Amino acid sequence: MAESIHVLGIAGSLRRGSLNRAALRAAGELLPESMTLETFDLTPIPMFNGDLEVAGIPESVREFRRRIAAADALLLVSPEYNNSMPAALKNAIDWASRPPENAFEGKPAAIMGASPGASGTMLGQDHLRRVCRVVDMHVMNYPEVYITGAREKFDAEGKLTDESVRRRIRTLLIALADWTRRLK
Ligand code: FNR
Repeated sequence: MAESIHVLGIAGSLRRGSLNRAALRAAGELLPESMTLETFDLTPIPMFNGDLEVAGIPESVREFRRRIAAADALLLVSPEYNNSMPAALKNAIDWASRPPENAFEGKPAAIMGASPGASGTMLGQDHLRRVCRVVDMHVMNYPEVYITGAREKFDAEGKLTDESVRRRIRTLLIALADWTRRLK
């Protein structure tokens, strides 16, 4: 049997009814056999401030770093804000990348995103990829998952009902398992 891959899923949106949180939950239902997924909620992470860092790394950031370290791979599921990534996600990446130890170094990762519009977070993902490159994550290039017109693809309970998007997420997760094994 293939060695199990443990994934940490991070949603870039903090809101409860988030389409991207819902997409991350859908990923949890679509995992290949050898993969497990837990999620980390970015809400408690304070805005980065060098003074806070000097005073002592906040516990929420320490926990974030521990969970990244314990994961074999990361799954970033983010909205696009003004053609970029939300501040909350960038802020969390900034915190966990700080010396003496960049938590992301060499970490395999995959990105996907959902938006109500037609671009499905394409530009936001492009910015996110640049930031991931700087912190030395190994982000999978393909398959790309842009969930367009996302309001129509989830039901009132936030369940992903669109079969073609479910298949694309499943394909991405299988590829992430393969990518992570190759990088080990
Ligand atoms: C947005 N939204 C948005 N959508 C998009 O496709 N491209 C964009 O550049 C932006 N910009 C943007 C900026 C800000 C500040 C907000 C709050 C929203 C709309 C966005 O895709 C929509 O609100 C999503 O539903 C947000 O994702 P969650 O919270 O549903 O996961």
